[in-house]
Amino acid sequence: MPSITRRMIAILAIGTIFVAGLLFLTYHFLIGPTGLQTSMPTLSVATLGENKACVECHQKENPGIIQQYHDSKHSGHGVQCLDCHKPVKGQETLTKDHYNVALIAKPTPNNCAQCHATEVQQFTDSNHAAKSWYAVQGAKNFTPAELAKYHLLDANGKPLNGGNANPVFNLIGQDASAQSCEVCHAIGQKNSDGSFGDCTKCHLRHTFEVAQARKPATCAQCHLGPDHPQAEIYDESAHGAYYQANESKFNMDAPTGTLTVKDFPAPTCATCHMSAFGSVQGTHDVGQRLKWTLAPEIASVRKNGDVHQQTMNAVCLNCHAQPFIDDVMSKAEKNIALTNQNIAKGKSIIQDLRATGLLGTKPFGTPIDFLYFELWHHEGRRARFGAVMGGADYVNWNGIYEQEKALVELQSQAEALKVKH
Ligand code: HEC
Ligand code: HEC
Ligand code: HEC
Ligand code: HEC
Ligand code: HEC
Ligand code: HEC
Ligand code: HEC
Ligand code: HEC
Repeated sequence: MPSITRRMIAILAIGTIFVAGLLFLTYHFLIGPTGLQTSMPTLSVATLGENKACVECHQKENPGIIQQYHDSKHSGHGVQCLDCHKPVKGQETLTKDHYNVALIAKPTPNNCAQCHATEVQQFTDSNHAAKSWYAVQGAKNFTPAELAKYHLLDANGKPLNGGNANPVFNLIGQDASAQSCEVCHAIGQKNSDGSFGDCTKCHLRHTFEVAQARKPATCAQCHLGPDHPQAEIYDESAHGAYYQANESKFNMDAPTGTLTVKDFPAPTCATCHMSAFGSVQGTHDVGQRLKWTLAPEIASVRKNGDVHQQTMNAVCLNCHAQPFIDDVMSKAEKNIALTNQNIAKGKSIIQDLRATGLLGTKPFGTPIDFLYFELWHHEGRRARFGAVMGGADYVNWNGIYEQEKALVELQSQAEALKVKH
């Protein structure tokens, strides 16, 4: 055979093998037996060392996780599965072996703190952390050092509320609590490595986006309902109405630290309570901009309340003139005082009955206990929250009006009880 023919045959053979190989690879990696997958993630960033196996296997097991990870800023910046899922110091008891790799199934704030120490510190100092968990657990799982560190001791150095969980917890029982109280309050759960909280309550995994955390719907998972209807109040406020009508004008993805009225023409929950906005610094401590504690029976001013109010004021100033803000806030303070007065009246009726022994000692033992509880826990809070966040309907029809009605009812039930005995 002439050498030229031999060379042609060789080229043809190699060419055929090459084309066939290409067809096979295309089928195997792109089309596959289930057809073309358009949402196939770019795996390049996640293929470092052991992380390659995580992505490959979980792509088959739970493609949603890999898709969310792929869409995140983390994957874009080369943050790998094991950057979060590898145990850090103090997580020995949480560590399990997973296909020959040491794994943390549920990364805690201690894992995030490797790269986000500031956010973790601010969050840990906030009422979203230990205080929130204490509200539904009482002191039982806290060490004395933790009780002191997270301000869970009263003026006499004893655990708050006698160390007990809230009485409603006992009223509804453990099973109901596991799917209600504990779901919301797990934002501050105690983790076995000593850290507090669950960042994924706001930063849904595995996208971990700021855009999503800035939307009212994120906060509305928990801040709603008869006792803390901040979401409903926001919806009926001018801010909420503006947001709903103009959602497409909001630049939810704007980088943190650069947010201004150009990105957010009206505030969301996060703008007022957390975001860096205009000249105001951002914070993961949601108490830093609050003058009042509005949730308890009697609302009161916080330590450093005036400094906090100036920070909130600086947020409003981006969009409103000072006299306008002063007017709103001074009216709100009058209504906070009014709720306090109404609750004090109700409380004296109840204390009077207790003193005469006409009510038992069991919490929530008589209908009148519920009347008084709702006077502050529902109606009082609703009026206060409505007053500070622009919810006119909540100030009146769901608030003060309901309080006035309940006071008449309380008085008349108290008299009836006294007559009976
Ligand atoms: C060969 C397949 C395979 C590999 C490789 C693999 N996983 Fe998994 N993984 C699974 C399966 C299946 C489950 C669910 C059942 C179980 O827990 O074993 C799971 C569960 C998990 C869980 C939840 C565990 C729990 O207890 O809730 C995490 C977190 C996880 N994998 C992360 C990773 C990470 C990170 C890597 C890489 C270091 C990895 N996986 C490697 C198949 C795999
Ligand atoms: C930025 C940190 C971070 C990265 C990166 C990360 N994870 Fe996670 N992952 C978490 C957190 C936080 C949880 C939820 C913990 C909890 O339930 O409290 C979680 C939960 C999981 C779970 C169990 C929960 C479920 O929905 O089934 C699996 C499985 C998992 N991750 C796999 C992976 C894989 C695979 C990768 C890489 C492609 C990855 N993770 C990358 C932080 C991360
Ligand atoms: C290995 C370092 C590392 C770890 C661990 C880590 N992150 Fe990140 N994270 C980053 C980097 C890098 C960015 C991108 C920063 C940027 O955009 O400038 C980022 C960005 C973010 C953002 C902003 C995303 C956006 O849309 O702008 C959030 C929220 C976030 N991380 C949450 C978490 C949480 C929660 C954890 C723990 C479960 C965690 N991260 C663990 C490195 C890390
Ligand atoms: C998973 C549930 C959950 C989510 C989501 C949530 N919160 Fe909370 N929040 C709570 C709980 C529980 C408390 C009560 C903490 C306590 O015990 O004082 C609270 C308290 C607060 C407080 C009062 C803090 C203080 O110092 O008294 C503010 C303000 C607040 N949240 C704002 C927000 C904002 C803004 C968002 C959304 C960006 C949000 N929360 C998302 C559960 C949640
Ligand atoms: C839908 C989510 C959700 C559920 C369910 C829930 N809470 Fe809360 N809880 C919150 C939020 C949000 C606040 C913050 C209210 C505020 O500051 O305006 C709060 C505040 C509290 C407070 C006052 C704060 C403090 O630290 O003293 C207590 C106590 C409390 N809850 C106990 C409970 C108990 C007990 C249950 C179950 C019977 C329960 N919660 C169910 C979301 C929830
Ligand atoms: C109450 C809801 C909430 C919780 C809980 C929460 N975050 Fe955030 N986070 C936000 C919001 C809202 C932003 C956007 C702030 C802004 O607009 O400036 C944000 C932004 C971030 C950023 C981006 C900051 C930057 O400057 O780029 C990181 C990182 C982050 N969070 C980490 C965490 C970590 C870690 C945890 C848990 C310790 C956590 N977050 C818990 C709501 C939350
Ligand atoms: C226009 C700014 C603004 C917006 C938007 C806003 N808030 Fe507020 N919020 C305030 C002000 C002002 C107060 C009272 C501050 C004080 O104590 O001086 C307040 C109080 C609160 C409290 C009361 C904490 C306590 O003392 O019990 C919670 C919880 C809260 N807001 C959550 C939310 C949530 C959730 C959203 C969104 C659904 C939201 N806020 C939207 C400005 C705002
Ligand atoms: C990012 C801009 C922005 C911020 C920040 C902001 N607002 Fe507004 N506010 C608006 C817009 C837009 C409206 C609806 C248009 C209007 O009525 O002026 C509005 C309306 C209001 C209204 C109803 C006005 C009316 O005439 O009925 C009140 C009250 C109000 N804001 C109070 C506040 C307070 C108090 C703060 C700070 C805690 C605040 N706002 C922060 C943009 C903002």
